[in-house]
Formats: sequence, structure tokens, C-alpha cells
Amino acid sequence: MVNRLFRGRSPSASDNLLDPGCGTGVFLAGVRRWCLKNGIALPKMVGVESEPGRARQAAAEVGGIGGVEIRESDFLTGSIERFDYIIGNPPYVSIYNLSEKEKREYRAAYETARGRFDLYLLFFERALKRLKPGGRMVFITPEKFLYVETAAPLRRLLSKVEIEEIELLDEQSFDGLVTYPMITTVVNRARAGATLVGMRDGTQRSCRLDNAASWMPIIGGVSDDRISRERLRDVCVRVSCGVATGADNVFVRRTDLLEPELLAFARPTIAGRELTKPGEMSRDAAYAMLIPYSAKGTLLAEGELGALGDYLSRMRGHLLERTCVQRKPWYAFHETPPLPEILRPKILCKDITGKPHFWIDREGSLVPRHSVYYIVPADAAIIDSLCSYLNTAEVARWLADHCQRAANGYLRLQSTVLKAMPIPDDLAGAQRHRPISLAQPQLPLIIDSQSPAPR
Ligand SMILES: C[S@@+](CC[C@H](N)C(=O)[O-])C[C@H]1O[C@@H](n2cnc3c(N)ncnc32)[C@H](O)[C@@H]1O
Repeated sequence: MVNRLFRGRSPSASDNLLDPGCGTGVFLAGVRRWCLKNGIALPKMVGVESEPGRARQAAAEVGGIGGVEIRESDFLTGSIERFDYIIGNPPYVSIYNLSEKEKREYRAAYETARGRFDLYLLFFERALKRLKPGGRMVFITPEKFLYVETAAPLRRLLSKVEIEEIELLDEQSFDGLVTYPMITTVVNRARAGATLVGMRDGTQRSCRLDNAASWMPIIGGVSDDRISRERLRDVCVRVSCGVATGADNVFVRRTDLLEPELLAFARPTIAGRELTKPGEMSRDAAYAMLIPYSAKGTLLAEGELGALGDYLSRMRGHLLERTCVQRKPWYAFHETPPLPEILRPKILCKDITGKPHFWIDREGSLVPRHSVYYIVPADAAIIDSLCSYLNTAEVARWLADHCQRAANGYLRLQSTVLKAMPIPDDLAGAQRHRPISLAQPQLPLIIDSQSPAPR
């Protein structure tokens, strides 16, 4: 990173350099070593660290040596001068670890504090704004900002300056942290040329990273322009994560062990781990979900629960441990299941997978659990062609370019990403030219039983 910072132009003693979030000062020590080794004068160096213990340690280890100044302050809120060079490893802190006050202040002050932002996006923005004209910065961060929707404002800011180089680093670069890191080198001047991209397989590409949409397709050499502008959401009534009961150990039971009196409340259910062999799904599922909701998706009154009420009462202690009972009846699911949409012919996929695959539930009888995503086409007639398309290498490539990564290179198939997937013209056209029926199809039977079904 220091080589990149000073490539083609060594610092002079009158230049200044910043490490925002300097921790114990390892980067500042690295810059110093580099300058000494190359016989170059040290620039004036400033490290900013908000955590007092680390700031003290940095001051003890590198402070004062060759004019290094350690400031114990908040880089995101304190005032600070502009710099010729900025180098850093900003904090990766998700919005979930920030207080309400911090979130409010950051949202008011930063373009990049949008949606479920992460602090490194804000560090990027602040550093870009504190870089002198012509100054250079080198940051190591997670690669997520290349493609997540939340980072669109950062991509917009970066597309106004010269991104000289990005390098995608090995997954294992940080011990124990599942981040796919990358190094970005930026010069604060108007964009002149393309960006050099170092890929994980060691190859290099030259790319124009020009707009706020995901940069992964550009880096991967694929353009969405080949396919229609229509998206999956345009031909579906629902693209969602499966049902969250908050207590699958109570509501999900082995079908073969289910008491006959509960069958009337049971529907076949499927979890991500059961989606294994390619092919069509059958309703002979190994597990059943006991559902205290009517087919219209409304919660049954306690008096209507019958045998299910007796069973759930015995499990009441478990059910009351769920946080959702603060705002819902004790036997409700964590999230209200949109049954009228779930119980339609649909396409299923796992939420986390090494290789995305899509299955058809033609009858619409399966209730997907939280580890399964379901895609309900508005017109069931396109389900085969849609599923075939979803299983193409083209879609696998698009998903690899747009999905967040879990551990071991696995992809997280989130509904925002699935909904934004471009679909071919012929599928969008088939949908456009067919009258769309949103009417509720005949609901498949609950697991066969003689007992009366709930309304
Ligand atoms: C990922 S660590 C990097 C530390 C060091 N640069 C390194 O590579 O070892 C990020 C550092 O930023 C600090 N930090 C977090 N929020 C900060 C803020 N608002 N202002 C200044 N420092 C902050 C953390 O305390 C932490 O030491």
C-alpha cells in the first residue's frame, strides 16, 4: 500500500500524510520504514484515532518520531486539514453497532450514510473530501462497496475522481474475518483513463468504473445491456425470504410423527438444506409446518385453534421466549406469512449457496422456511421458462457479480438482488402480452386429512 501511495512521486518533507483510524500506528510505522529504506524525507504525518487506549499506544510507538502526530479524536465529526497523502484501513462497523444518535448525525452529514451503511463508507467519503487536489489515497476495505446498493453514493463520489487501481485480495487476508478485502488507489483529479483491476486469479483488467450501478459486471466483463431492462420484480407478485416462525422447533414437525388431529393445520414445508437434487419439488415433504393462520393469512383467534391450540399451549413457555411476543399474540409467527402469495406456483432457491439453483413448486403447496427464497410469477404460465432462465450460466454469473458473499465464497441470495435481476425480453414480453391473473388460485389441500381445515 505504501508503494502505491508513493508510486511515481515520492513525498517531500513539506507534504503531509494522514492515517484516519490509525489504531496503534502500524501504517505510520510502515510509511516511516519505507522512507528510511528509500532515503526519502519523511512527510509530516498525522494519525487520528478515537479509541483512547490505541491512540496512547500509537503515540508511544510512533508519536514524535520524525514529526509523527497522533490525535485522539473522531475522524468523522472533528475538523481536520487537507492532506497530500492518505493511507488507511478504516473501521468496518455496521450500522447495527452504532447508537441512534450516531446514526442520525452521520445520516445528516454524509452522502454515503444511506440505508444499512457501514462506517468504512463514511471514512472513504471524509478522506476523499480531505484529500488536496492532486493528492493520492490508498485504502484497504471490504470489496462490498463495488456492488451493494447501499454503496451507490460512494460509487458516485468515486466516479468523479481518478481511480488508478483496485486490487481484489485473498479472502484470508484478515485472520478470522469474513471480508473479501480490496485495495483502492485514488488520485483527487478528474477521471482521465481507465482503472487497472487486479483480479484474485492474478490477472489484470482495464475497466471504466463510471456510474453508480454495481461495478462487478463491468469488472467481470459482462454488461446488463445484452438483456432487457425489465427486472424479475416486474413479472412477479412476490420475491421474498421464506416464513420466519421464530420457533421452528415448535411449529415445524416431522410429517410422519404428526398427531392426526394436527394435520388440519399442517402444510408441507421445506428448508434450504433440503433443496439438494435438481428437479421438481414434491409436496411429500419430510416436514410440516403447523400454521395458526387462515388461508387468507390472518391469525386465527385462540378459540379457533382447536387441537393446535392445545399443542401450542403446551409449548407456550418456548413461544414466550421470542422477542416478537412483545407486539404479537403469543402463538403468532415472528412474521405474518403472506399465505395467499406463498401458496401459489412458485420458484424456490436457497438463501446461501455456493452455486445458485432454482426449483419449481408447481402445485404451490410448499411453505418455504426462512432459509429459502421464493419467487412467485404473476403468471404461472411462465414458470417453466422463468425457472430454466434462472438456472442458466448467465444468471449464475449475474448473481456472482451482484450478491453479497458469505464464508467460503458462498453467495447470499437476498430479495433486493433477486428482484433487480434483468430478465430476457421474451419472458418480459410473454408476461406483457398475457392478461395477468392475480386471482387466488385454488389452494392446494393441506396435508391430506379428514379433519376440517381452518377457514
Ligand atoms: C480496522 S482498524 C485499523 C487500525 C490500523 N489502521 C491498522 O491497520 O492496524 C480501524 C481503527 O479505526 C478506529 N476508529 C473507529 N472509528 C473511528 C472514528 N470515528 N475516528 C477515528 N478512529 C476511529 C478504531 O478504533 C480502529 O483502531
